Amino acid sequence: MEMGVWWIAVVSPLLLWCCEGSSAHQLSVDPPQDLQIVDPGLLGHLYMQWKPPLSLEASHQCPVTYKLKYRNAGDTDWKVIFTKKLKYGDNFDLNRPVEAKVQTLLEGPCANGSEVQSEWTHASFQLPLQGALESRIQDFRCVYYNWEHLRCTWQPGRQAPPGARYELYYWYAGLGDLAQCADYIWTRGKTTGCQLLNLRQAEYLDINICVNGSAEPAQLQPSYFILQIKNLVKPPPPERLALSMSASKEIHVQWSSPEGGTPAECLEYEVQLQGSDGHADAAWSSASTQLETAFVFSQANGTRLSCVRVRGRTNIFCADQGFWSDWTQECFYVPREDGKQLFILVAVVLSFFSVILVIVFAVHRKKRALAAKKLQPPTGC
Ligand SMILES: *[C@@H]1O[C@H](CO)[C@@H](O)[C@H](O)[C@H]1NC(C)=O
Ligand SMILES: *[C@@H]1O[C@H](CO)[C@@H](O)[C@H](O)[C@H]1NC(C)=O
Ligand SMILES: *[C@@H]1O[C@H](CO)[C@@H](O)[C@H](O)[C@H]1NC(C)=O
Repeated sequence: MEMGVWWIAVVSPLLLWCCEGSSAHQLSVDPPQDLQIVDPGLLGHLYMQWKPPLSLEASHQCPVTYKLKYRNAGDTDWKVIFTKKLKYGDNFDLNRPVEAKVQTLLEGPCANGSEVQSEWTHASFQLPLQGALESRIQDFRCVYYNWEHLRCTWQPGRQAPPGARYELYYWYAGLGDLAQCADYIWTRGKTTGCQLLNLRQAEYLDINICVNGSAEPAQLQPSYFILQIKNLVKPPPPERLALSMSASKEIHVQWSSPEGGTPAECLEYEVQLQGSDGHADAAWSSASTQLETAFVFSQANGTRLSCVRVRGRTNIFCADQGFWSDWTQECFYVPREDGKQLFILVAVVLSFFSVILVIVFAVHRKKRALAAKKLQPPTGC
């Protein structure tokens, strides 16, 4: 109680002092009018548009800026845009409602040297719901193979009616109108995926996708996706993997980036080594993740069979994420001891030659015996 009284006694004169100047001649500005969220049917690309505030319509001396905030319902952060225009477009997830708000900002001489903000004008948008929830596709997955073709797959909805037929539509900036998939993947008479080619110009853009469909007379609930295909790349495995061992028993590994559409400078590699004494299931040890296409393992450590495998993935200079390629693998036998090895080699070569000698000798003797037989005169009958 006493504390409260003290606080008011000390702080309220300060508050009065600090705010007296501005509150006396409070500048104000009206909010923008008629904010609308417009859906031009591009599967998630929406426009937000508004009209200037009433009080400013007549006068043009004051430069006005609009502060626009928007998000999908459920997102914690707003996207914030400052613009002098009356329209702004962006991509939204149409599975969820969209909300936006805009206010007028007045700066500079018109605002008496400070910044004046209006109240917010709000708007929201949601596609009309259609179809039963359980009719939506499930497990939608896309992989962009070798920077060349996008393959998306899905499973039919849990309670999709028997005659359900799903269709995929897509759009990206630069594609005039939306397009339907031209190359569906079929499983047991149903579309369960789509392959898209020629997306080079969309590699660094958003691609908006909708998978909807119908099962006459019912409609299936559409699903919407926004893809950044540069983050969905699966490159082919590295090529020309070569292993060699130096005199000091270092294992030198070398490979090259895969041919095809993958930009070589966009790859990073993981190199693994498996050393085993005859066990095929020995563990792989991860040795390195790197940008270079060569690596040296310090020592073969006396294991007999060593295998090296390498795989590639898009690196952070080209994308935020990506899928690993399949592995490329090579194995080789590590000589146990050089002296012993040479001894075995010499022994093998020597025994090989002695076998040949024995055969040659035997053949030769047989020939001579036959020749001798032929020379004998016939003994009658
Ligand atoms: C502008 O600011 C000055 C000093 O801060 C003040 O005297 C004047 O009344 C203000 N004018 C308006 C229109 O607020
Ligand atoms: C699916 O969406 C596309 C694009 O919006 C539309 O043209 C088509 O009529 C829709 N199909 C169904 C069955 O709703
Ligand atoms: C050999 O052993 C050393 C130490 O035990 C280890 O650091 C090294 O990675 C091993 N090299 C290979 C090729 O397994």
